[in-house]
Amino acid sequence: MNEQRRFKVAVVGATGAVGETMLAILAERNFPVSELVALASERSAGGEVEFKNRKIIVQDLATFDPAGVDIALFSAGGSVSKEYAPKFAAAGAVVIDNSSTFRYDDDVPLVVSEVNPREAKNRPRGIIANPNCSTMQLMPVLKPIHDGYGIERINIATYQSVSGAGRSGMEELGKQTAELLNFQQIEPKKFPQQIAFNLIPHIDDFQPNGYTKEEMKLVWETQKILGDKNILVNPTAVRVPVFYGHSEAVNIETRKKISAEEARALLQKAPGVKVVDERKAGGYPTPVTHASGTDPVYVGRIREDFSHPRGLNLWVVADNIRKGAALNAVQLAELVAAE
Ligand code: A2P
Repeated sequence: MNEQRRFKVAVVGATGAVGETMLAILAERNFPVSELVALASERSAGGEVEFKNRKIIVQDLATFDPAGVDIALFSAGGSVSKEYAPKFAAAGAVVIDNSSTFRYDDDVPLVVSEVNPREAKNRPRGIIANPNCSTMQLMPVLKPIHDGYGIERINIATYQSVSGAGRSGMEELGKQTAELLNFQQIEPKKFPQQIAFNLIPHIDDFQPNGYTKEEMKLVWETQKILGDKNILVNPTAVRVPVFYGHSEAVNIETRKKISAEEARALLQKAPGVKVVDERKAGGYPTPVTHASGTDPVYVGRIREDFSHPRGLNLWVVADNIRKGAALNAVQLAELVAAE
């Protein structure tokens, strides 16, 4: 990275669950910031967020002039990205967008820093899309397997934490848990059903084919990031009463057989991946004990599928707010800064 150059960085959605972590990770990784701008809605304008032990006043996105911003990290929802990301890009900023608004556009690269970093440079619209959390954590694990053995089909069930639904998702789990333990009535607001002591097989909108949009993101994004439209993906996405960390039960079918030992050896060398795979109690990653608050994607329960000659099972866990969103966004900013 060029030691001299420092960047004016805007975080859009700075008061949110992901935005707050973006600020923390920019500081942690010592990203070369000349000025940090914290943006949110009019509701939060005038409030404060913390960056490098300093208070930063939150500004109203609607009245902010993006001229002079070098890099803008967006995590304020799809409609905000749709309206403001092109304005920031037109003003000269490189936008790194965490929403799904631009992910499937051919002229917007969709990048996982360990998997397809070179694509970040090819951004005719000045926008780089950050993948959805559930695809994000899967890619560093599947990339080396796909390169070496050819993945034909992926069957996946996700176990997604409430922080993926933002701050209000976490508040709802906490509130419902307390209410139920106190024998009070609960009223689901953020989630379509009770989330405390329950789980919900429905994230994002239903699509005409019966899958949800969260599930279809896994299909579209896996094919785009691995650059292979022929990979078949069959997903089920489930919201679970966990605060931080998404888990995934993954079954893959490869063109060439991969043994559990070969997979373990390959994944031990994969960037951003940590193998936790001992066949004993606790010898596998969980969202709370491993992922939460940490950077790696953890993989365990690696075993050959005894129902299929070229099948392999994996259990993949990561912090959805960090690698699944804020960390990758900052890693993309690092790629831009290094250009
Ligand atoms: P605000 O605090 O003003 O509502 P989360 O995903 O945790 O719910 O966070 C969403 C983030 O997006 C928050 O920082 C929120 O700011 C921001 N946000 C939501 N709507 C807008 C908007 N219309 N303009 C700017 N920021 C917005």
